[in-house]
Amino acid sequence: MSAAAARVEADDGPIGSDQLSSKNFKRLAELIHGYSGIKMPANKRTMLEGRLRRRMRAVRIATLNDYCRYLFEEDGLDAEIVHLIDAVTTNKTEFFREPAHFQFLRNKALPALAKTGGRTIKAWSAACSTGAEPYTLAMVLEEHRRANRRQDYSILCTDLCTQVLGQAVTGIFPAAMIEPVELDLRQRYVMRAREAGRHEVRIVPELRAKLAFARLNLMDDAYPVDRDMDIIFCRNILIYFDKPTQSKVLSQLCQHLRPGGYLFLGHSESIVGIDLPVRQIANTVFQRS
Ligand SMILES: C[S@@+](CC[C@H](N)C(=O)[O-])C[C@H]1O[C@@H](n2cnc3c(N)ncnc32)[C@H](O)[C@@H]1O
Repeated sequence: MSAAAARVEADDGPIGSDQLSSKNFKRLAELIHGYSGIKMPANKRTMLEGRLRRRMRAVRIATLNDYCRYLFEEDGLDAEIVHLIDAVTTNKTEFFREPAHFQFLRNKALPALAKTGGRTIKAWSAACSTGAEPYTLAMVLEEHRRANRRQDYSILCTDLCTQVLGQAVTGIFPAAMIEPVELDLRQRYVMRAREAGRHEVRIVPELRAKLAFARLNLMDDAYPVDRDMDIIFCRNILIYFDKPTQSKVLSQLCQHLRPGGYLFLGHSESIVGIDLPVRQIANTVFQRS
């Protein structure tokens, strides 16, 4: 092997294979972590390569290391960072995911909020993915509105990934996703596609009108969001962050909760070791003091 070829191999990974070189994996991992908070340890390397291959094909670049060259060249990041982040985020979500949270809302939080004078309930789904979480919230809040002298509500839906936000806005889902939704809620809030063979459903316009969508990076130093939220859902995202990032994000989220407001985390997430102005009132449910 010539000296030049050896140099290429050392920098760009074995010639002929399409894998990230160690140097490029390290640069990417640092970039992704710094930008989104998402940890990218060595055991995620194959996953990262798989996801980048899809993006690479979309921009017609032949190899992963060429994609890195394009990404890290001048102005490359400006053009590509949103797509890179879209490619690396994990967006798994479900309707009525972690159903105990929605039972808690129905049975405890909403009756308590109804006593606060009937103001509009403000909810925020802070990592909303394709929308199953905020549309579930909308069904529960709409049921509450109907039963409680029309106590109105609004739901802010944010995520870092532009692709999922684009899907969430439409309120369209594969029909199979709606299975966890109780039949009577389905009948009221979900429409089936008219065309036979099209296995899609759409949330009714009355609920869609209650949701507002925006791209928001939880890593930012400040969030352009109201500070009197009644309900914040930040579920199944903290697990991707390290402890200092979890602590920073949670402290900032608490600044957007009004006293007495509720914070919901994912079932495998915790605030242990993080000093926050909240008290735990149910499993992974916290109330702002
Ligand atoms: C696994 S999904 C969870 C969706 C929903 N909360 C649930 O529990 O079903 C995690 C979401 O967090 C988003 N995300 C990742 N990093 C983020 C960040 N720094 N700021 C905001 N959202 C982020 C991802 O794009 C993804 O849609």
